[in-house]
Amino acid sequence: MTGYFLTLEGIDGCGKSTHARRVADALTDAGREVVLTREPGATDLGQKLRKALLETEGPVSDVAEVLGFAADRAQHVDEVIRPALGRGEVVISDRFADSTRAYQGSGRGVDREMLERAIELATGGLSPDLTILIDVDLAVARERSAETASDRLERESDAFFECVREGFLELGRREPHRISTIDGSGSLEETAAAVLATVHERLPDLIRSA
Ligand code: TYD
Repeated sequence: MTGYFLTLEGIDGCGKSTHARRVADALTDAGREVVLTREPGATDLGQKLRKALLETEGPVSDVAEVLGFAADRAQHVDEVIRPALGRGEVVISDRFADSTRAYQGSGRGVDREMLERAIELATGGLSPDLTILIDVDLAVARERSAETASDRLERESDAFFECVREGFLELGRREPHRISTIDGSGSLEETAAAVLATVHERLPDLIRSA
């Protein structure tokens, strides 16, 4: 059986983690072996990098930030994602390289070519079969994430997150075959239904061969 690689993306508070879990449950129910994972922090090294990336109080340069997320991704791909795909499993990752493009590229303004080089190095060219982008406006996202403790990135300004959101939407427009953009402003159930419908539509084999 062929492995499939699905990613969920969006700004903090968009609800992607909840939907990643829902998709994982649905595919498990359909009989597939599913690995639900996330960035940053899916591995032992990744946990340490996550803490460094999100909890460092002192300055973090833009390049250090790019390379930190890239190091986390390199370990994630090597230790978790490629082995699972090799076993024919479905890998669902809560964030992947598009987060670097949106946060470090559109948010921080890091040079695109440099970002793509770091992404290529980390992934060895591995790209998702399908990416689901959950789009919500900033007010909705802020309301949803209001109760969770805020980390270094979550403390960024509204202007930063507007750029990140626009960056994600631009990626969706540029790569419509890979990225499916879903409006996440409705109820949890409405969005979950839209996400599952997209998975069925884009990857029918995923269900048929289950
Ligand atoms: P996430 O785990 O989604 O946050 P939380 O657990 O608080 O819901 O992501 C952590 C943060 O890392 C998030 O603000 C986005 C950021 N991030 C980047 O800036 N670049 C990246 O490449 C990745 C993977 C995440």
